[in-house]
Amino acid sequence: MARLAVNVDHVATLRQARGIDQPDPVIAAGLAELAGAEGIICHLREDRRHISDRDLRLLREIVKTKLNMEMAAVDEMVDIALATRPDLVTLVPEKREELTTEGGLDVKARPDHYRGVVDRLKRKEIQVSFFVDPDHGQIEAARQCGADIVEIHTGHYSEARSEFEATESFERIALAVQSAAGLDLGISAGHGLNYVNVKRFKDLPRIEEYSIGHSIVAMAVLVGFEDAVRKMIELVKHF
Ligand code: PXP
Repeated sequence: MARLAVNVDHVATLRQARGIDQPDPVIAAGLAELAGAEGIICHLREDRRHISDRDLRLLREIVKTKLNMEMAAVDEMVDIALATRPDLVTLVPEKREELTTEGGLDVKARPDHYRGVVDRLKRKEIQVSFFVDPDHGQIEAARQCGADIVEIHTGHYSEARSEFEATESFERIALAVQSAAGLDLGISAGHGLNYVNVKRFKDLPRIEEYSIGHSIVAMAVLVGFEDAVRKMIELVKHF
């Protein structure tokens, strides 16, 4: 039975669109937990375009399941993580001009850097996940850098424009899951998953957790946050 962790970034995006104090991602996190989510995720970006330092601080106070802080592997964010102590940090690549995280981390390009970041976080008993493309080499490199978990990037699958492309991308994800399982890594997956395309993941029971944000926030606008979270749990809990 897979777990759902809810990313609340886009509740903050809606707040920032008006530059006022609502809707509050902290309240959304509480509602997500009430509806059964087993983790809350937020991405503190260097440009603070959605989640703010205040959000992260309050989320750390109120999240009772597991707080997963997504962040770039840069000194500023590592210092904030060490001070805030999320349960888990997910390292992601970050570009200022992107609309959302665009690709997985190129772990192979800077293994020493990532190993140093992992060491600092682990000294404070923070688990570390690496957001990687479904690529054996990157998964192996993440393991060598000390990752506890790999989050497999599902964006290419989600954005597939044909059944052929979707099947091909999904097969790559299935192989990546095998690689990660063979290396004894925790396995999660996310990016672009919605109430339709997530259904195929029923065939990959080794994925332990799904990280889903935008589609839940979009559904919540129509049916309310708790209902939106429950509907997604109803799907992933049977995987
Ligand atoms: N996982 C990672 C690493 C992400 O950067 C994001 C987007 O913030 C997600 C999962 C969730 O993606 P989505 O909002 O498309 O569900």
